[in-house]
Amino acid sequence: MLAVSPYNQLALSGVGRIKDIDIFDTTLRDGEQVPGIALSRDDKIRIALALDDLGVDILEAGFAASGKMEKEVLTKLGKSNLDAQVCSLARAVKSDVDAVIDTGIGMVHTFIATSDLHMEYKLKMSPEQVKSKAVEVVEYAKAHGLKVQFSCEDATRSDLGFLKEILTEVQDAGADSVNIPDTVGVIIPRAMSYLIGELKNTLSIPISVHCHNDMGLAVANSIAAIDAGATICHVCMNGIGERCGNAALEEIAVNLFANYGIQTVDLSKIGQTSKLVERVTGFTAAGNKPIVGKNAFAHESGIHVHGVMNNSLTYEPFKPELVGADRAIVIGKHSGAHSIQGRLDVLGVRFPAEQMDELLETVKKIAIGGKMIDDAELLAIVDNIMWKNDTKTKMVSLDELTVLTGKNTTSAAVVTVTIGNSDKRTAADVGVGPVDAAINAIRKAINDNITMEEYKLSAITGKSDSICEVTVMVMNVQNDGALSVGKAVGLDIVETSVDATMAAINRDFARQRNA
Ligand code: KIV
Ligand code: ZN
Repeated sequence: MLAVSPYNQLALSGVGRIKDIDIFDTTLRDGEQVPGIALSRDDKIRIALALDDLGVDILEAGFAASGKMEKEVLTKLGKSNLDAQVCSLARAVKSDVDAVIDTGIGMVHTFIATSDLHMEYKLKMSPEQVKSKAVEVVEYAKAHGLKVQFSCEDATRSDLGFLKEILTEVQDAGADSVNIPDTVGVIIPRAMSYLIGELKNTLSIPISVHCHNDMGLAVANSIAAIDAGATICHVCMNGIGERCGNAALEEIAVNLFANYGIQTVDLSKIGQTSKLVERVTGFTAAGNKPIVGKNAFAHESGIHVHGVMNNSLTYEPFKPELVGADRAIVIGKHSGAHSIQGRLDVLGVRFPAEQMDELLETVKKIAIGGKMIDDAELLAIVDNIMWKNDTKTKMVSLDELTVLTGKNTTSAAVVTVTIGNSDKRTAADVGVGPVDAAINAIRKAINDNITMEEYKLSAITGKSDSICEVTVMVMNVQNDGALSVGKAVGLDIVETSVDATMAAINRDFARQRNA
């Protein structure tokens, strides 16, 4: 199921064994602070229930003091018998804690900034004032029976002496845990290890870590903190969160499992929870996002597909089933015969080996702009190649096609065809749209009596870059009332319609030759 680097174990052999880590999920608080994400009451409850089902330990579901809806959500979750401890954020002010108390939940995460930068320019408070606010709010929350986590906002740019001082005082005031936020994502893993190591030597209560991803180190810094003794880790599903996001829940959970043997959440529910968060927030994870991105287990290039088909661990650190995801063998520009054959085998399609080159060439032509070909599209291409087989020798070939179209203009087309070996003809016509104009021009060039009896266009998948399939039925190609069907698949509707019409015309000529 897993094949991580053996050097991980080697490097960790000197480090004390990490026993258990609590996952503190803040998808519904820091995650919701992403510009553009605005969750309704029901949205928040749906996500909260899914995160609880996933198995997070602490669920920071909002900021009680920020509004009525937040309070309602927290109140409802507090009464929902969740396994997770429901928690609310609160500034280090009594009124924020009062809002949390009103919800009836059992935990508050209270914070105040401790860096010189924040104290001077944002809070306009001295370190002494900050310290007394922190102690006062922790004592107040404890006196009201709340579990308290205290955060030093911007801890990673705060003076170490001051951090030790304020954290010792909040510990003495009864805080149950302290949190070290890398608020602007500015620390490096080695420094995070150092900082947590220093605080671990000073404090006796659990240390938590909250890392932002401004420089792409949120997960690495969280793991470094855990290595150094932090036992609570703040995360957001899909790595959402202020600016560049927070440490991604799925990346932390998988790393802890794969490299430290620590089971946190139910890994097999990661895929479904990630998708729910994507759908509800409208914030889709990047394709290359580890664990949950659509490319995390997708393979296109011939070499990789061949390797994965023999043993998936050749190009995957673990099997997608571990995290409730699916592998995708993508058919595209980089595909080789192995990938296509593998896909056809899965789809149960028997395709003539002698036509594989043609299939490969068609796939590459269609995929040249980066388009990925899905199963339905591959089947349509296969079908078309197999169908075309008996109309290989063309009587009429299309040499040139020009189409003019636009809004509030009459569409026009010019075509040049060659009939037989040398009968070159050029014709132009107009139509109600570009397809109609092109087909009219073809009819004019070949035989005006040709009629279009049926025209069917379908997009193989529902996207705007989908391959389309056109089927036409024409009559009277040779003035004898016979019907002839033509099919084509392609990316461009006009071109594909013309290809289908030409195929029908050639089929009709082939009928006469074969008779
Ligand atoms: O990033 C941060 O510092 C925070 C605090 C509120 C803990 O989100
Ligand atoms: Zn944050």
